[in-house]
Amino acid sequence: MTDPHAIPVHPHADNDPASPGLPRSDRYKGIILRCASYAIPAILGLLMVIFLAIPALMPPEFNLNPGSSISSLDISTSLITAQWNIALSVKNPSKLIAVKYTRMKLVFCFDGQLALSRPSLIPAFTQDPGNVTTVQAKALSMIAIVNDLGVIGLVSSLKGGKVTIDVVVKAKRRLHLGPWWVPVLDAYISCMGVTFTAPADSEAGSDWMILGGTLSCTPDIFTQF
Ligand SMILES: *[C@@H]1O[C@H](CO)[C@@H](O)[C@H](O)[C@H]1NC(C)=O
Repeated sequence: MTDPHAIPVHPHADNDPASPGLPRSDRYKGIILRCASYAIPAILGLLMVIFLAIPALMPPEFNLNPGSSISSLDISTSLITAQWNIALSVKNPSKLIAVKYTRMKLVFCFDGQLALSRPSLIPAFTQDPGNVTTVQAKALSMIAIVNDLGVIGLVSSLKGGKVTIDVVVKAKRRLHLGPWWVPVLDAYISCMGVTFTAPADSEAGSDWMILGGTLSCTPDIFTQF
């Protein structure tokens, strides 16, 4: 006597290639291997998206604030002293992902070769999606006046009442992905040709202000490759 409900069960069991004859543990091994052959490329792809594609799609937006200035400028016969006060506005362009800058370093140079000061370090800060943060950096120059083309050029620029420098920012970033702060490639941002002019009233001791023009900086995330 056959049970009509039992009939569909047997063809089903026979059609399953993993079931006949194979012990349970082998069956699972096969499934795990098959999954792994899909999972590994999928995980690698996900890692590439996290570490390369997402950071590349959200280059940080840096702009120099017009409030940047040079103060305490003094040129003696042997020494140039100046303080560079740079205000940068930093925007997180992502609508979804928070960014943490764990270490940011500003380097100031003149004529592409003369370092004006020690690098200026910015304390770590976090940005929610779309937030703009103003970062203040100060750097003190104390440059001995020696017979060097860069130094001579700097002195003559400053005496001429107009000086152009480059500010390069190097930043270590982390992105807030799910519950994790994932470190991504360092960001490099160049603010080239930042020009300051002497105060028009020529009153001794007043600050040099930034000259209009383009104050935007250019991200260069692939510098390290
Ligand atoms: C982002 O901006 C909002 C609104 O201005 C502010 O309330 C929030 O504290 C900011 N978040 C961070 C991490 O600075």
